[in-house]
This record gives sequence, C-alpha cells and structure tokens, in this order.
Amino acid sequence: MEFMLKKKVKSIVLAAGKGTRMRSDLPKVLHSIFNKPLLAYVLDAVNNTGFIDESFVIVGHEADRVENFVNSYCENAKCVLQSPQLGTGDAVNKATPFLNDFDGYVIVVCGDTPLITADTLKAFIETHDKNKSDLTVMSAIFDNPTNYGRIIRDDNDKFVAIVEEKDATLEQKAVKEINAGIYCINWKTIFPAFKNLKNNNAQGEYYLTDIVKWAVEQKLNVQSYVLENNDEIFGINSKIQLAEATKLLNTRTVMRLMEDGVQIVDPSSTFISPETSIGADTLILPNVYITGKNTIGKYCKIGPFAHIRDGAIIGNNVRIGNFVEIKKSVIKDNTNVSHLSYIGDSELGSKVNIGAGTITANYNPISKVKSKTIIKDGANTGSNSVLVAPVTINEMASVAAGSVITKDVEAYSLAITRSPLKVISGWVSAKVKQAIRRQ
Ligand code: UD1
Ligand code: MG
Repeated sequence: MEFMLKKKVKSIVLAAGKGTRMRSDLPKVLHSIFNKPLLAYVLDAVNNTGFIDESFVIVGHEADRVENFVNSYCENAKCVLQSPQLGTGDAVNKATPFLNDFDGYVIVVCGDTPLITADTLKAFIETHDKNKSDLTVMSAIFDNPTNYGRIIRDDNDKFVAIVEEKDATLEQKAVKEINAGIYCINWKTIFPAFKNLKNNNAQGEYYLTDIVKWAVEQKLNVQSYVLENNDEIFGINSKIQLAEATKLLNTRTVMRLMEDGVQIVDPSSTFISPETSIGADTLILPNVYITGKNTIGKYCKIGPFAHIRDGAIIGNNVRIGNFVEIKKSVIKDNTNVSHLSYIGDSELGSKVNIGAGTITANYNPISKVKSKTIIKDGANTGSNSVLVAPVTINEMASVAAGSVITKDVEAYSLAITRSPLKVISGWVSAKVKQAIRRQ
C-alpha cells in the first residue's frame, strides 16, 4: 500500500541567487545538463516524490527568465520574487503570504543541486512524518566540510544549531557533519521563526539555518536526517562544477543501465541522459552522446560516435552506426542506419536499410518549418541520397545512390535522379599525350 503521510506537503525551491561564478548572462539555475536546466532536475525530483501538491520557486536574479521557464515547465509551481536577496531565511520568508493557514509540511530545497533524487526526498519526508518532527534538517558527513554550515550537537548528541563557516569557532569548524541545505518544516509550528530572524552575523544575512536554534529554544522536535550519498547535494557554482555534475549524473545513469543489462563498452566516453531508457543486451560503443528523452529497445547496436538528440523511439535490433545523428524519430525493429546519416522528424518502418550518407532534409530555413520523412517497411536508400521532407518512401521502395527525392516514392519502385553515366574511353591518355607534346 502507498505510504500515507499525516499532512500535505508543499515545496520551496531557492533560486534567487546570481551565480556570479558561472560568468554568464544566463541565470545559474537555467544552465543545462543534457539540455535540461538545473532547476528542472530539482522540480522533477520534488514532484516525483508524489507528495508535493504545490511549489514556490524563489526568484531574484533575472527573475523574468526564470519565471518564464518555470511557467512553461511545471504546472504546480509558482514564482515568488525576492529582491534584493537578503539571505536564505529572507528567501523562504517571501513565500509566507502564500502559506498563511497551511497546516502541513514545507520542504525547502536549492535550485542548483540537480543530483538530488526523488527517492531521497521521499524518504526524508517520510522520516519527518514518522518522527512527528517539527523540523528535520538533512545533514551529510564530509571529510572536507569547508564552506558548509556545521551541525552543532550538545553533550547528549542532540542537534541544537547550525553555524555557518564564517561564524564558526575553530572547534565548530572541525565538525564534519554539515547542513545539506534541505529542510522539512512543520509549517504551523515553525513559521513564527521567520518573524524572529536577525541578520547580526558575519554575512549580514537572514539565515534560514537560524530556525533550528529558535525551534530548539521553543522545545520543539528538531531532528537531523543523514544523507547517504553526498553527491546528491553537489551544488553548482561554476562551469567546472557544471561539468563535474554532468559526469556524476552520467555515471549514475550508465551504471544503472549496465545493471539492467545494457552493454556499455566505455562508460567514460559514453554520455546518456537520465531520461533515456535502453533495453537489455543493447550494445553501446564508445563516444556515443544521447541527450533528451528517448526509448531504445533490446539487441540494438549504437555507435561508435553516434548522436541521439531527443525524442527518439527506437525498436529492437536496430543498428545506429558511426557518425549518425537521430532526432525526434521513430525507428522500428530490425532497421539499420549504419553510417554518416541524419534522420530527423522521421518515421522508419521495420527492416529499412538507410545507406551511408542519407540525409533527411527536414528543415526549411526560410519558412522555419520542419517536415516529416516517412520510410515504410523494407524500403532502402542508396548512399548519399537526400530525402527532401515532407516525403514518403513506401514499402520496399528503393532510392538509388546519390538521388535527391522531392516526391513520394511508390511501393516496390526505384527512384533515381542521377544524371546518366558517361564513360569517355582513352580521355586520360589523350590528356597525358597533349601535356608531353607541350613540354
Ligand atoms: C547554505 C546554508 C548552509 C548549507 C549550504 C548547503 C544558510 C545560511 N546556509 O549556505 O548552512 O551548508 O547552504 O549548500 O542558509 N538564495 C536565495 N536568496 C538569497 C540567498 C540565497 O534564493 O537571498 C538561494 C541561492 O540561490 C542558493 C541557495 O539559496 O540556491 C543557497 O544559498 P547560498 O548563498 O549558496 O547559501 P550557502 O552559503 O551555500
Ligand atoms: Mg551554496
């Protein structure tokens, strides 16, 4: 049976920060891994817990751009402006007008930690619920805790406060248990804390972390929850960290796929987006890059050097060979696209053979319209053919090498646009003789 929580859950996603170290015009949380913005990973993790009915995204830097994205991506998320950015406590406080009478839990997460998983958030909320906790803080044990807030415990090991690096004593700095920056708040009992936040600290900010001390003083039930895998709170502040997060996410994905029976020859040179599913016994050769949402069947052979861009639905026993790019296309069982081809906005039936260098010309740059190419069961294209969409190649039809196809091709026929071959015998020897005479 589904686990039932005692209360409803809403989320607050902190995304107002500037991200100066990204050195970019783009707001930090809109930077992408596998074409998907960091903020989208966090919103998905939150929503995939199955617990959250509404989210508030705190926006500030480039607020309009972030808000446009959130509105287009997520139905149950609302943006709340925080300007200026006076600290994480002030950020959460901006959502209080929307949570006036809310008698449930509020989880707070950061918009720049894309590796957080729905499973972890789910277990975190369930633990908070089971413990009848007023406030649960996610902590983690780091060998190098520098820059994180430290979890401070009293002599009885009871969690009593979070102290920021810049406010910490030497003794506190030695603590290796840190604040992961994820909180579950029993809103009704904790929200008075937000009125009491002060900014008399080293950074002159309103710290969200100060709600811990307040709740302890009020004798409320304050708990910590230790994160198992520290990678999940890997935060992104620079393009170097963006690359590191991409690697971490990719490793997680390729490991899962291999556990599910996919053969990946070189995991370090293979990039697969987490939203791609691949059937068992499919072989992925080195230097394959797969981004976006795709489904790939069993017994396929992909790569080396193949690029699948998004929206590919590939059946079983399909061959996608070297230097092939696939975008938004359906490819049925037993079809081969073996070398040097572009297949975009297309539907390929089964047992189709795409010759080397076949291009679906799907885009008209003047009208900006993209059109479909349909290639039915058993049809084949010769090398270097161009299929100018919209166009249909019907069952078992054959396109001759080097042809440019601008009209539908009927079933079982040959389409050829090649100019006739002329062989001029002795042409070279005549030229050579001429050259010798001139010397
Ligand atoms: C915060 C915690 C620290 C914890 C760490 C985990 C506080 C005071 N400290 O520190 O204990 O170990 O996270 O990563 O909370 N943001 C806003 N508005 C603001 C300020 C920040 O939306 O006014 C957002 C930022 O964009 C970011 C998140 O809140 O996504 C965290 O802010 P940041 O300044 O990075 O906090 P830390 O100093 O890392
Ligand atoms: Mg931070």
